Formats: sequence, C-alpha cells, structure tokens
Amino acid sequence: MKALDQLRSTMRRDRVFDFMMQTSGLEVDVSHGTILYLEDISVSFDGFKAINNLNLYIDAGELRCIIGPNGAGKTTMMDIITGKTRPDTGSAYFGQNIDLLHLSEPDIAQAGIGRKFQKPTVFESHTLFENLELAMAGDKRVWPTLIARLNSQQLERIDEVLEIIGLQEHRTQLAGSLSHGQKQWLEIGMLLMQDPKLLLVDEPVAGMTHQEMDRTAELLTSLAGQHSVVVVEHDMDFVRSIARKVTVLHQGSVLAEGSMNEVQNDPRVVEVYLGEQGES
Ligand SMILES: Nc1ncnc2c1ncn2[C@@H]1O[C@H](COP(=O)(O)OP(=O)(O)O)[C@@H](O)[C@H]1O
Ligand SMILES: [Mg+2]
Repeated sequence: MKALDQLRSTMRRDRVFDFMMQTSGLEVDVSHGTILYLEDISVSFDGFKAINNLNLYIDAGELRCIIGPNGAGKTTMMDIITGKTRPDTGSAYFGQNIDLLHLSEPDIAQAGIGRKFQKPTVFESHTLFENLELAMAGDKRVWPTLIARLNSQQLERIDEVLEIIGLQEHRTQLAGSLSHGQKQWLEIGMLLMQDPKLLLVDEPVAGMTHQEMDRTAELLTSLAGQHSVVVVEHDMDFVRSIARKVTVLHQGSVLAEGSMNEVQNDPRVVEVYLGEQGES
C-alpha cells in the first residue's frame, strides 16, 4: 500500500519536475564572462594526436563558429566537452566552477550543455508538440508521467519554443512529415526544452536548401545572448552569414581566430584550405 502511494506521488507531474530539478545540481558560474575553458587539451588515438595542446575560450552568450579541414579535430573537441571522450592531458571547465573532466556524459548534459548531432533524431511518429513535450523530460524514465496534463507554464514553454524555431503552424503535424531542414529546427527546439546554457551544433546546414540555410542562420543568431552557441560547419557561405568570431582548427590546435575576413585572409589558413583541395 505504501509502495503504491509512493508510486502515485512520483508519478505526479509537479513532483516529477521537482525531482528533475534536484538532480540538475550545480549552477554554472559565468561571473567572469566565460562559459567554456579548454586549456592545454591533448588526446591521442593509437599514437595519433587528434587534439594537440588545444586552448579555446567561449564567452557567455557568444555565437562562435569553428571551421577547419577534415580531420582537424572538430568533432573530437565536441566529444571532449560533452564527456564522450576523455583527454590525456589538459583541463575543461564549464564556467569557473564545473570541472567537465570529472562529470559523466549525462551529468554534463544535466549541467546545461546540449549537443545537436548532424543527423536529426526526432520521433517521426509523434507530433511536433509531443516531441517537445518528451524533450522537456530528457530522462526517459519519467516519460510515462507525461501522459498527465501539462501545467500552464510548461504549455507556454512549448509554444515559445515552437515560435523560436518557426514551426508553430505545424504543432499538431507528425514530425515524420517535416522537411529535412524543419526536422533540424525541431531538434534544436528539443534541445531548447532543456534550457541549455551552452549549445554545441555539428554541421547544422548539411543537406539544407539555401532558404533553409538562411532560416537556420537567423535561428542560431537569435539564440545567442540567451545561450552560448558553438557551431561547427563546413559551409563557408553559411559561416560568413552568421559569423562573429571564427576559430580555425588544424591538426588538433587553434590555427587562427578572428572575424571571418581576418581568418580568410590569414596566409596560414589559406594554405591549409588549399592543401585540402589539392588532396581531394
Ligand atoms: N575514436 C577514434 N579513434 C581513432 N581515431 C579517431 C577517433 N576519433 C577521431 N579520430 C581521428 O582523429 C582525427 C580528428 O577527427 P575529427 O575530430 O573527427 O575531425 P573533424 O571533425 O575536424 O573532421 C582524425 O584523423 C580522425 O581519424
Ligand atoms: Mg567532424
């Protein structure tokens, strides 16, 4: 009997969100204006240095683009930030207080770092609304409770996110019926439901039409300020359309950093990109 009561109370929606709050733990401290510190990071795979003494700092609220030839270490860098890969040396801090190298992958997500992979992973046979609803409870164990009614604050947040991603008109449509670009936006929306402080986005415009690319540029630009956004992207026109500060990675280190114009005119960057074209 007691067990049943306990089960009932854990199934109550308001309690579920309390429970999630409790597990979220540390609040990131960005009082020095920096949300991400990567210092002297190196990692080798079978003796090959994929990341080589990397130093990277991201400001709170910044939108940063990371470019670099294939194999430069961009994805590995994101793997290190999200706890998927552990570096051999160096330090990685989220704000001043959260040591990422001592947190598990789920704890890093919980602390406020959201990652969008290249391939969208929306739930095709659910509506957009349901996708966002499910994303609100990132922890799959509490999904059964979502059958209960949402409170007005949660409803508002879903509508707010639908508006941010520009898909309000599609809220009752199945996600499977969306275009490739719309699915990418929905997935960004699903990340936003968890209110990440830092968003990592790997090649968001691969396979998009020009129109979708423009809309994605607008979306990511609109997220900066409220969130810090790190975008890894190959498409130079896209990077030019959103870029403020650009970091060029090469052989696991920062080769150049600055405005798009500055890095494009940097002879070292030109050489690296010409070299890549020569190889392919
Ligand atoms: N798990 C792994 N095992 C072995 N080598 C890897 C692994 N992950 C990445 N690498 C190598 O590390 C280098 C950097 O890869 P990656 O971070 O994927 O580059 P990018 O995303 O910039 O194209 C590449 O040479 C890649 O082959
Ligand atoms: Mg990559």
